[in-house]
Amino acid sequence: MEVHLVLGGVKPDKSSANLLIDEMFDAKIHYVESTKWDDWENYGKNLEKELTASGKKVYYMPIGGSSAIGALGYVDAFYEILYDCGKYKINFDYIVHSSTSAGTQTGLIIGKKLTGWKGKIIGIGSAKNQEQLSEEIYKLANETGNFFNINIKYDDIIIDDKYIGEDYGVVTEKGKEAVELFARLEGIFLDYVYSGKAASGLIDYMEKNKFEKDSNILFIHTGGNVHLFKI
Ligand SMILES: Cc1ncc(COP(=O)(O)O)c(C=O)c1O
Repeated sequence: MEVHLVLGGVKPDKSSANLLIDEMFDAKIHYVESTKWDDWENYGKNLEKELTASGKKVYYMPIGGSSAIGALGYVDAFYEILYDCGKYKINFDYIVHSSTSAGTQTGLIIGKKLTGWKGKIIGIGSAKNQEQLSEEIYKLANETGNFFNINIKYDDIIIDDKYIGEDYGVVTEKGKEAVELFARLEGIFLDYVYSGKAASGLIDYMEKNKFEKDSNILFIHTGGNVHLFKI
């Protein structure tokens, strides 16, 4: 199976981090010199057409794998979380995670709806503002909800976009502090683009006593730490 990746930016002189691994897998890399997500998506759509026209059978994955099928992965993850809660006799009042292209939060929200779990799911944004991301999650969640005959309301979607900083991919001071804190206290490696910013939100909520006393909070580490090796 051939893999084509559409990446925003220009080819760096030297590959590192994620790109090194992409190349190791022999992915065909297409650079789009733009910071606009729509440009990347449009390039991908055109590439899909071109490859299809050349006789290939193409499976198109949107940014973040955030299609209805992709979101099912995090429905599954939600069930795994509840299974583990039962096994270890713990209950969470909140789930906090990084939220960017809608798939992760959609899956979790559907999982909550299907199981009747009473806690709150808080997505900490690292790219889009609250309005735009809520809209995208609302759309994707209702599309994914069709598999289960359920509807999602705007009230089910909680997003906080206050920790994005200057822009997507631009390191924030608080994000950097959170990455270092997790590393030094717990030996857990986050990343500066997603989970670090989400963790900076989590820490800020705790410092401002936004969670009720004695709440159990689950922070989902969504990966991404290969990015720490970017040079
Ligand atoms: C490490 C990491 N965390 C979180 C996210 C956000 O997930 P989603 O795009 O499903 O909101 C991403 C998305 O690419 C990611 O790479």
